[in-house]
Amino acid sequence: MNALDSNAQVAVIGAGAMGAGIAQVAAQAGHPVKLYDNRPGAAAQAIAGIDRQLGRLVEKGKLQTEAREAIVARLEPVEAIEALADARLVIEAIVENLQVKQDLLRQLENLCAADCILASNTSSLSITSLAAGLQRPQQVIGMHFFNPAPLMALVEIVSGLATAPSLADTLYETAKAWGKKPVHARSTPGFIVNRVARPFYAESLRLLQEGAADCATLDALLRDAGGFRMGAFELTDLIGHDVNYAVTCSVFEAFYGDFRFQPSLVQKELVDAGRLGRKSGQGFYRYSDDAERPAVAEMHSQTHAGACVIEGHLGVMQPLVQRLRDSGVTITERAGSGLIRVGDATLALSDGRLASQRAVEDGLRNLVLLDLALDYQSASRIAISWSADTAPDARDQAVALLQQAGLRVTAVADLPGLVVLRTVVMLANEAADAVLQGVASAADIDLAMCAGVNYPRGPLVWAEQIGIGHSLRVLDHLQRSYGESRYRPSLLLRRLHAEGAATVTESAKP
Ligand code: NAI
Repeated sequence: MNALDSNAQVAVIGAGAMGAGIAQVAAQAGHPVKLYDNRPGAAAQAIAGIDRQLGRLVEKGKLQTEAREAIVARLEPVEAIEALADARLVIEAIVENLQVKQDLLRQLENLCAADCILASNTSSLSITSLAAGLQRPQQVIGMHFFNPAPLMALVEIVSGLATAPSLADTLYETAKAWGKKPVHARSTPGFIVNRVARPFYAESLRLLQEGAADCATLDALLRDAGGFRMGAFELTDLIGHDVNYAVTCSVFEAFYGDFRFQPSLVQKELVDAGRLGRKSGQGFYRYSDDAERPAVAEMHSQTHAGACVIEGHLGVMQPLVQRLRDSGVTITERAGSGLIRVGDATLALSDGRLASQRAVEDGLRNLVLLDLALDYQSASRIAISWSADTAPDARDQAVALLQQAGLRVTAVADLPGLVVLRTVVMLANEAADAVLQGVASAADIDLAMCAGVNYPRGPLVWAEQIGIGHSLRVLDHLQRSYGESRYRPSLLLRRLHAEGAATVTESAKP
């Protein structure tokens, strides 16, 4: 299937933040682009804005003056919708309202050629509903860009029930030709990213609500151990709590109140208070000039840890052994079930049980649990928690050992799955359910989360590295601890584990 010819006329409707960005992307790819907005003068204003943006790129030496002029020359503001009649592809980015968008599509259907592609940039409306009642619902499709469209690589190509498969293929190839990373998705609530990303926010909000640690500490763990660009609190402060909370509510309602997507009272309270984040000067953090960045909780030990015993294979934590060795710790290895012994302390990767519960059930004295890290060789921080009967001296020995390996050690309360592990398995769980339900392929979901929200690793590949069995165990334990369907493991993970599969990405076909 071929991309649209780069000479094909493109029309963008809505000259707001998204429409302007999309028009720029199409014009940069060589298309003549007509931009229409029902606010008089808005399209011309938006094109002037694009010109200024491109001017900045010229100043930085990232774009030639001639290229800037050529791009702007391809952008044409139009003041009447009738001027879009010759478009081969129309992308609407108007107000997020089903009725208004349906009216617009009906108008376009009467105006444009029968084979014109009618694409919507909607982030939350069903493509199936948008197309319903039209004469040619097969020509309607989602083309979901991320903000800012010229910079963000991901485009979700969203097919409704009636969308022609060939249309999805053409648009996929077209997005690629525009320098984007497209993925195919079925029109289901939140498509890929806005669905699979929900646990990223939800788990931090819950951890905060349950007193695991403060915002700055939880954010630091997701960044420094998890490798995410931002923690959930700084990110939602940036997005705006009104926007982020509204997306969560819309996905929750669209899934008939499935507790997986339950909104957080902590975030609702911020919205109620008008603490919307950066844009209002305060969210979880304060943004006034004199606001101090809250400190991240850290433990320090004065003890020197010269030796430890590694019992068995540490699974995803195994790279820690080399890191300890490189930092001068003498290591004795012996058979066992994946434990580190230092002094009187026993260290283990969390399996989703409370430390106090696991200490009793497994008969482990002075148990200290470790959280997940993206890369145990290079992480700069790690979270730990411990069981109620862990002696202060043993805890100190555990901290000393991790410190010796160059890790900052941050304590969190004894909650199931700590911080990064719990967040990542919940992301993978949602991704697995999306695969199971045929929303998208495993590879496309991982790509979408990396290109759309900058995750350091696709959640499904990450779950493979943790081990499908271990990921499933963590989810089972979370569900048992809370007794809530929110933590129910995806049937896909359970099935793959039962089949002995090592990968989700290759084993699971959508
Ligand atoms: P915006 O409010 O910045 O721009 C919307 C523009 O559409 C305005 O200029 C308005 O005058 C125009 N408009 C409204 N009704 C119109 C009509 N009937 N005919 C012609 N023009 C009309 O909105 P934004 O943020 O650009 O969003 C547009 C669409 O993109 C929405 O569907 C939104 O859900 C979606 N989206 C937004 C993202 C974001 O981060 N802002 C990200 C991805 C998708």
